[in-house]
Amino acid sequence: LQTSSAPATFLDVLKAQTRPEHDAIEHAIRLTSPSITVEIYRRTLERFYGFYRPLEPVLLDPGQWPDAALDMTARRKTARLVADLQDLEVDVARLAICGDMPPLDTPSDRWGCLYVIEGSTLGGQVIGRHLERRLGLTPAFGARFLQPYGARTGPMWQAVRSGLTAHASSEETQRRVVASAIATFRGLCRWMSGEIA
Ligand code: HEM
Repeated sequence: LQTSSAPATFLDVLKAQTRPEHDAIEHAIRLTSPSITVEIYRRTLERFYGFYRPLEPVLLDPGQWPDAALDMTARRKTARLVADLQDLEVDVARLAICGDMPPLDTPSDRWGCLYVIEGSTLGGQVIGRHLERRLGLTPAFGARFLQPYGARTGPMWQAVRSGLTAHASSEETQRRVVASAIATFRGLCRWMSGEIA
């Protein structure tokens, strides 16, 4: 993991300890397959919607995040999912909603979950380019959710990284953030794979 003798930061540890879960979900959602079809993509968006719609009002409640600079309102992506699904002629009202959310009770729970949800915008850029090439979908039609921040992706992610570092200042908070990130990845992965209804 380390290329120099500098000690690993908490962010290095968090990334390393969640790598198996990241790779599992990346594999499970299959959006970078060369043989991606609109049907596979639509099904993937339907599942994301079923997870994000109940999650976002709780996770991104600005009242839970004292640092207003993190701009939780701007991080909401459910409306983008709805617009993408409407582009693909899906009746959103009939979609299944996940009843099994990751733990969000403590600030460390929320930081671990936010890490996963916001980190996915990095992969979203890779997937977005692939979908544009293969399926002609763009941030203006069908692929709004995957690239929500456009040119602001870097700064939006840096703000999460800074907040995580400030929050996880003790061994105890670090342990809890890692556990929550793993729980979020696993819960989302099970839901995306259709293992939980
Ligand atoms: C085909 C699917 C995916 C691809 C190709 C992908 C790819 C990537 C890439 C290229 C990065 C940047 C790595 C770096 O800068 O070091 C990244 C980071 C990340 N991705 Fe994914 N990703 C995918 C799916 C997901 C999903 C579904 C989630 C969670 C919902 C996710 C969560 C994260 C997180 C949390 C990071 C930040 C890692 C860190 O720097 O600590 N990814 N991903």
